[in-house]
Amino acid sequence: MKVKLFNKIAEAGIQQFDETKYSFSEDFDDYDAIMVRSAKLHDVAFPASLKCIARAGAGVNNIPLDKCSEQGIVVFNTPGANANAVKELVIAALILSGRKIAQGVNWVKSLEGEDISKAVEKGKSQFVGPEIAGKKLGVIGLGAIGVQVANAAAAMDMEVYGYDPYISVQAAWTLKSRIHHAKDLKTIFEECDYITVHVPYMEATKNIVSAEGIAMMKDGVRVLNFARGGLVDDEAMVKALQAGKIGSYVTDFPTNALMQFDNVIGVPHLGASTPESEENCAVMAAKEIMDYLENGNITHS
Ligand code: MLT
Repeated sequence: MKVKLFNKIAEAGIQQFDETKYSFSEDFDDYDAIMVRSAKLHDVAFPASLKCIARAGAGVNNIPLDKCSEQGIVVFNTPGANANAVKELVIAALILSGRKIAQGVNWVKSLEGEDISKAVEKGKSQFVGPEIAGKKLGVIGLGAIGVQVANAAAAMDMEVYGYDPYISVQAAWTLKSRIHHAKDLKTIFEECDYITVHVPYMEATKNIVSAEGIAMMKDGVRVLNFARGGLVDDEAMVKALQAGKIGSYVTDFPTNALMQFDNVIGVPHLGASTPESEENCAVMAAKEIMDYLENGNITHS
């Protein structure tokens, strides 16, 4: 069986396969399966032999889903496999969004040539920022990542509101009891001091943080997007930043327009960038391919 690799995949994933049955290459023309991380497959002409694609990651917007369903190609992702990595970054970002740590670190770097210890004592008061404990956090989307973020934020004494009309029974069971279920997005927008979005990107969720939603938010709100660009209406966010409404915006999907503002922290899509997460995703993707090709089982499609 031939597996075409469109990205470098963690070795632990490749090691799952029985090498007497499977071979791997980036150069196959006909192949049974694809393993991919972030490479975009929209322009790839799939061979008739292709049966499944496993995306080592959560989002599947680099895969042409319509074309796959027309051609009977099953698409898998690896939900939950990178959830801890994203959760840890989001918790860091929640703190960074108020405490002026990133700005302070850049400032210290810029002091080269001066007496840094003296300058620090004189200048540190410009970097005072609030704690997260006791503040209200709205979590939009309670899938594998949203649930972990909600629980971790509650453990840091935030008052957490979760919104997800499609929450799974399993996710509901793993949510700590002190998390409030918001009945609608309006509640999240109006009530929360911090808002983080954790839904997949699709037509129905495009600009889920909309101009209208931003207008409902409290002045000084802190917004985080570690899910996908396109979930927050960037144009509306730029306008709200210009108007001084937003306390800070931390995004894994920075753009030129956003980065003109001092209170925007742009992260280079690092949500799942840990060796642990890359390994977990690769192992899960490998198991999905084998289970489908060998037993016809479909998990996480
Ligand atoms: C995901 O979709 O799994 C994360 O955004 C990370 C990635 O795109 O690889």
